[in-house]
Amino acid sequence: MSSPINISNFESISDELDRLKTEHLIRRCDCVESAQGPRVRLADCTEKVLFCSNNYLNLAGDNRVIEAAVEAMRAYGFGAAAARLVSGTMRPHIELEEKMARFLRKEAALYLPSGWTANQALLTALPQKGDLVLIDRFDHASIIDAVRAGQAEFRTYRRDRPERLERMLAEGGYKHAFIVTESVFSMDGDTADIKTLVALKRRYGAILIVDEAHALGCIGPRGAGLCEEMGVLDEVDIIVAPLGKAVAATGGIIAGPRVVIDYLVNRARPFIYTTACPPAIAAGAAKAISIIEAEPERRRRLNDAAALLRARLTAIGLDIGQSTTHIVPVVLGEAEKAMAVSKSLYEAGYYVVAIRPPTVPPRTARLRISVQADHAQAQITGLCEALKAILKS
Ligand SMILES: Cc1ncc(COP(=O)(O)O)c(C=O)c1O
Repeated sequence: MSSPINISNFESISDELDRLKTEHLIRRCDCVESAQGPRVRLADCTEKVLFCSNNYLNLAGDNRVIEAAVEAMRAYGFGAAAARLVSGTMRPHIELEEKMARFLRKEAALYLPSGWTANQALLTALPQKGDLVLIDRFDHASIIDAVRAGQAEFRTYRRDRPERLERMLAEGGYKHAFIVTESVFSMDGDTADIKTLVALKRRYGAILIVDEAHALGCIGPRGAGLCEEMGVLDEVDIIVAPLGKAVAATGGIIAGPRVVIDYLVNRARPFIYTTACPPAIAAGAAKAISIIEAEPERRRRLNDAAALLRARLTAIGLDIGQSTTHIVPVVLGEAEKAMAVSKSLYEAGYYVVAIRPPTVPPRTARLRISVQADHAQAQITGLCEALKAILKS
């Protein structure tokens, strides 16, 4: 047992925790006791239908992915035990990078331990003093924190007001301008207008960076994401591809021009000063990408499941915002209400955590419902019926 620590600062920390509890904003980690899938077993020994994971294509439990990882673990051991630039770069890392560069049709790719780190590496190293970085106001926290930590000036734009984005680009006064967007927005399930962003980047000579976290594997003829679906993959300068969602691995890929990747290897501190991902994870991710390319029916099933979910929620009178994808928000307002609805759903057999501020803006606490390709129709309609009954009561 460690001895009790008496630091006065801890009082303000516990005050803050008390405040979070009172305001229904306190967070905790639930424990899942089974592999991720359409159903999971939780630590309270109950099974629930899971509607809040990013395992969109159900590859987390795919035997071929597991075998690829196990085989690599036997060949290369468990951990890389060093940073990539020391002795931590192993054959599966290189093979994954080459595969992702081909998949995303870029000259080169770099594999980092997470999507968070990928955005940190890219956005703290590439934009320099005198540059301007323009980010969507609802971009992921990893993008926001990265531009805050970087050297360049940054400003936010609203995706429903592209004219404001254009005005900022037209004002000039910068060396280089960067536009950074998610493709599918993680909390709203709507999509960026990539074609307009491409047109603006061309008009003003800006550099366009797209984070495909929630589209990779799910959208596009080969599953390469929204940029592929829109036919502009070659026009987007740099793609960030977090691998913890549909690819069901962990890590983040940055794919772009060779010169950018070489620069990041030499200058991006979040790449240089961290231990490489276990090689088995890289091998599993590469296998998942092969499956994504070879099995478009997974995307069709996901789209069908998502369309059914959106239609049913709309039919019972719920506002799902602008969602057109497999991420469907049901905005409930105050955190207390979102927590209560989530708890009732849990008791009815559905696991959907409440998403609350600061992840989403004040008074927009919500259920962020995410479907998987392998959810049965009855599971989706069952969820909607349960939600309807709960909201009525
Ligand atoms: C758009 C986006 N980018 C980056 C990340 C971070 O990825 P990771 O979970 O691999 O750190 C997330 C995670 O949710 C995300 O939604």
